[in-house]
Amino acid sequence: MIRKFIRSILLKLLVLIDKNTKEKIITTKFYFWNKEIRIPSILIILIIPLLIFLILLLEIEPSFSKITGLIIFVGFAFGIFILYLQKEETELKNNNDALMLVGLLGLMGILSIEIVKSINNSTAFIVPVCGFTILTALLLNNRIAIMFLIFISTLCGVLNEFKLEYLIFHLMSGFVGIYLSDRINNRNDIFQTGLFMIVINSLIIISFNLLSYLEFKIIYFLHIIINSGLLVMLIYVLLFPLETFFSRLTKLKLLELSDFNQPLLKRLAIETPGTYQHSLLVASISENAAKAIGINSLLVRVGAFYHDIGKIIKPEYFIENQITTNNPHDDISPTMSGLVVISHVKEGVNLAKKYNLDKPLIDLIEQHHGTSLLSMFYQKALLENSNSKEYKEEDFRYPGPKPQTKEAAVLMLSDACEASTRAIGELNTNKLKEIVEKIINDKLNDGQLSETNLTFSDLDKISKSIINSLISIHHIRTEYETNKK
Ligand SMILES: [Fe+2]
Ligand SMILES: [Fe+2]
Repeated sequence: MIRKFIRSILLKLLVLIDKNTKEKIITTKFYFWNKEIRIPSILIILIIPLLIFLILLLEIEPSFSKITGLIIFVGFAFGIFILYLQKEETELKNNNDALMLVGLLGLMGILSIEIVKSINNSTAFIVPVCGFTILTALLLNNRIAIMFLIFISTLCGVLNEFKLEYLIFHLMSGFVGIYLSDRINNRNDIFQTGLFMIVINSLIIISFNLLSYLEFKIIYFLHIIINSGLLVMLIYVLLFPLETFFSRLTKLKLLELSDFNQPLLKRLAIETPGTYQHSLLVASISENAAKAIGINSLLVRVGAFYHDIGKIIKPEYFIENQITTNNPHDDISPTMSGLVVISHVKEGVNLAKKYNLDKPLIDLIEQHHGTSLLSMFYQKALLENSNSKEYKEEDFRYPGPKPQTKEAAVLMLSDACEASTRAIGELNTNKLKEIVEKIINDKLNDGQLSETNLTFSDLDKISKSIINSLISIHHIRTEYETNKK
């Protein structure tokens, strides 16, 4: 009964928010009791500081000067954060899921400060600021984690009688945590991080003591152990639900998806061995190219593993799987061939959705050919039919969209280069360079890279990286080595 009542109130509130949402405001889709709602980002930006203000209000005596001071403090802290987002984190600014996640982590952090304060004989060394910071780093990125750490550590000091030791302790501990978060690749690493943080935090306390800023008390070390225990628990308990609820694709999840025991990758290996080999090569080429321009190389690598999964549906129509069978394209018209080949993108997206792959990976599958022309079948169609007006170029183009991110562009170029060089028998370094540069120029001239913010410098680095990867894949001797012989 009560649940029903709360549910109806919440739904009415959410419908109200939905109705008030203007189209121009960035909104996010959000499922609540199976109802899709949209929350405008401005509401999130207003609600979070308001909640923080209300929590902090409980801390102070309700006098005019103190409330004014609090408004200035919260407004200032949030103002800096929003300004930073607008300037440096444009992707986050447009992503309400991420914005809500930062807000939620901030609220949980502040609540933990309050809970620890309310416990007898406790100190703010217990507050798991480092745990929340590592969660922010894993779910968002290190830059946001640094901003988050500065905000929560400052609050921890302010809310505990402006004690500088708490501020400095949590800042130092949190920075080490952010550094360690890059090394968390599986669940065992979380436990190791917790143990490592006990050592680091103890050293910080010992240094405070040696500098005579803090008395030596054994209880501080007990608090540090509790802090690390909470760190491990927070990450274990919250990482997966937050990752799922806020649609975040973390490094841990990507590493899980790159396991070859994943059902889709198993199917790819068994049903389309040629495509599987091609995907492994594209993964290696694109990962190096992504590293060369400093983008998310793990996302590109995992995206490459899955980019051609749509070929599972009709494997025999793709050249890499035609080792023992005849070419079925010989028996059908070029238009039909085009349709079958183009459909592997749509089939890939369908399979990815069926197997619950995350959106960034689905985007990579959808964009890996952009709106490129299937020139082989288009030319074949023109040759076979003198009345070439019957064939429109658009009918032989992939449906797109074009790559929207640098990651998608790198995957597209690596895929095209691997596919083009695979079939060529004799290859030397110069020929390889020629092919790779021609593919990149063709994609550029065809407008396939027009919706990414790749620079010419990026393209140059990508080109060099792909050439180097292909040289090692094809075991080509450099000119120098050949001449020496
Ligand atoms: Fe493909
Ligand atoms: Fe491919």
